[in-house]
Amino acid sequence: MTPAEEIKEKLDLVEFIREYIPVKAAGANFNALCPFHGEKTPSFVISPEKRIWHCFGCGKGGDIFTFLMEMEGLSFKEALRQLAPKAGVVLKNDFVPKDTDRRNRLLDIMVLAVKYYEYVLTTKTGDVMRSYLEERGLNSEIIKDWRLGYAPDSWDSLSSFLVARPQSGKKYSPSELEAAGLSIYKDGRTFDRFRDRLMFPLNDVAGNPVGFSGRLNPHSTDQKAGKYINSPQSGIYDKSRLLFGLDKAKQTIKSEDLAIIVEGQMDVLTCHQFGFKNVVASSGTALTTAQVALIKRYSKNIALCFDADAAGQLAADRGVAEALAQEMNVRVVIIPNGKDPDESLRANKEAFAAAVKNAPPMMDYYFQRLSQGLDLNDVKQRGEVIEKIMPLLALMTNKIEASYWLRRFADRLGVAETELRESLSKIINKKAPNLQTAKVEKNRALVLPSREEQLSERLLAIIIKFPELLDYSIAKLNSAWLQPQKLSTFYNNLIIYYNKETDFSYQNFRNYLSGDEEEFNLLDRLVLLGDKDFYATDFKEVREELIRVLGDLEAAYLKNRLAVIARELGAAEEEKNEEKINVLMEELKYLNQERQRNQNLS
Ligand code: UTP
Ligand code: MN
Repeated sequence: MTPAEEIKEKLDLVEFIREYIPVKAAGANFNALCPFHGEKTPSFVISPEKRIWHCFGCGKGGDIFTFLMEMEGLSFKEALRQLAPKAGVVLKNDFVPKDTDRRNRLLDIMVLAVKYYEYVLTTKTGDVMRSYLEERGLNSEIIKDWRLGYAPDSWDSLSSFLVARPQSGKKYSPSELEAAGLSIYKDGRTFDRFRDRLMFPLNDVAGNPVGFSGRLNPHSTDQKAGKYINSPQSGIYDKSRLLFGLDKAKQTIKSEDLAIIVEGQMDVLTCHQFGFKNVVASSGTALTTAQVALIKRYSKNIALCFDADAAGQLAADRGVAEALAQEMNVRVVIIPNGKDPDESLRANKEAFAAAVKNAPPMMDYYFQRLSQGLDLNDVKQRGEVIEKIMPLLALMTNKIEASYWLRRFADRLGVAETELRESLSKIINKKAPNLQTAKVEKNRALVLPSREEQLSERLLAIIIKFPELLDYSIAKLNSAWLQPQKLSTFYNNLIIYYNKETDFSYQNFRNYLSGDEEEFNLLDRLVLLGDKDFYATDFKEVREELIRVLGDLEAAYLKNRLAVIARELGAAEEEKNEEKINVLMEELKYLNQERQRNQNLS
C-alpha cells in the first residue's frame, strides 16, 4: 500500500470534509452545499464507503487529497505532507524528496527561521523586545501561540545560523535564504533582511510559515528603517493570497459565521487575546480577490474595521468592491475609542464588542454617510446620493441582494424603484468609469427587470397569447401601471391597433408596428414568453392569473406613487405652498382609497 492509499483508508472522508463545510446524511451518502461553486440546493455528494466526493453542480470530484488540494490550493505533495501526520502515517524521505524539492526546502528554511527568531526573543538579546511586548500588554500565551520572535540588530546572525557550514550540519545556501526572502544580496555580500525587529510569522491557511512581517524596535535609532517590513513575494509567499491569522482564526470564523478584518498584526493579536478569535488582518492593504475567496471558504459574512477618522475613504480602498463582487455580506465596524482595534479593546472591551455586534451593513453605512448633511427632498442633492451609491450596487452579482437594496434605497429616497433601476442599468451599461470594468461587465446580468417590469411583461404576454382577454384588460388596466415607459407605450400601441382592427393577430400587429427594431424584438420576446409560461394552461387559469397580475401591478404602482407624493408633500410643506399641499393631499387621499380597495380585493 502506498502512503496515499494508507492515508485514505485511515482518515474518515466525511469527518474531514465536515471540518470545512456542514454535511448532512442522505441515505448511505452525505450531502452538502458545494464549497467550490455557489449553490442553494446541495449537489455535493460524499460517499464514505467509496471514499470519494463529487459535485453534480460544478462537476468537481475526487478523494480526500483532491478535496484538500482544491480547498487550500495545495499541490499533491503538500496535501500529503499535511494529511500524513493526521493519519499517523510516516512518510519516508524518499517519498518526499526534500533535497530535490526546492519549494519544500524553502518551507523548511522558514520553519527554522521561525524557531530561530523565537529563540532569540527568549535570550538576553531579546530582553528589549520582551519588555516592549509587555508594555503593549501582550501576554505570554499569545506570544507563544503566535510564535513571535526577535530579529537581532545584526547583519548576519540569521544567515550564519542557516547557511551551509558542513562542520555544524547546517545546510542551506545563501541563494536559498535569498529565495526565501530572508536575506538580501547586494554588492557581492549577503545580509539579513530583518534586523532589530519584532517578528510576526506569516502562515498560510494550513499553518505553514511562508513569510514574516517585522516591526521595528521602537527604541531603534535607525532613521531610515520603515516601521514595518514584510517578506518580498517569493516562491512560497504571495501577499495577495495570505491573511494574517487565518490559520488560527478559520475554525472560529466558521463557527461564528463571521470574519472580522482588521488592518494590523498587533490588532489581530490583541483581538485574539481579548477573546475575539475570528479576527484576521489584511496587513494594511485592500482585500484582494484571492483573500476574499479564502475567507469565503469559512463564512460569507465579513466585518471590516474602519478607523473612525479614515472611514470616509472610498469603499474600494478596503476591498469592499472585491467582497461585494463575490457575494459576501459586508458590515462596517466603526472602531470606538481609538484608531485601531488594539487601542479600542484596551480602552473599552465592551464598546468594541458592541460596535462589532451592531455593525451596520456596508450599504446602509455608505448610504448614511453619503446622505449626511444633504437634503433628500432636493432633486439635485438626492441625485448626488444616487449617483454615488449606485456604483456600489452595480458591483453586486447577487440579483436578489441588489434588488433588496434598490427597494430599500427607493423607500428612503422616496423615489420609484424603477427610477433607481434605470440609473443602475445606465451605470452598468456605460461601464462606470470609476469601477473596474471587468467586474461590472460580469454584472450585466444584474440589469434584470424590476418586479414591475416582470409583471408588466407577463401581462402583455398573456393578452398577446389570449387576445380574448384584451377587453377585460382595457377595462381594468391603467397603462401608467406598466413599467418602464417602453412597455406602457407598447401597450398603448396594442390598444390603438386593437380598436382599429378588433381582430388581433400577431402577424398583423407586427406589420402595424412602426418597423422599429426594438419594438419587433419586444413583441417577439413577449410572444415567446407567453408560449413558454402558458403553454398548457387552460383559459380559466390564465384569466385568474391576469387578475392577479393586474392586482399586483396596481399595488406596485400605488406604492411607488405614494412614496413620490409623500416626498413632494414634505417639500411643499417646507415651502409652505398651501395650494400644492392641498392638491397632493387630495391625490394622497384618492390613492389611499385605491390601495384600500386593492387590499380588499386581494
Ligand atoms: P499601523 O501603522 O496602523 O501599525 O499599520 P499597527 O499595526 O497599529 O502597529 P503598532 O500598533 O503601531 O505597533 C497597520 C498595518 O499596516 C502594515 C502592517 O501590516 C501593519 O500591521 N504596514 C504598516 C506596513 O506593511 N508597512 C508600514 O510601514 C506600516
Ligand atoms: Mn496600533
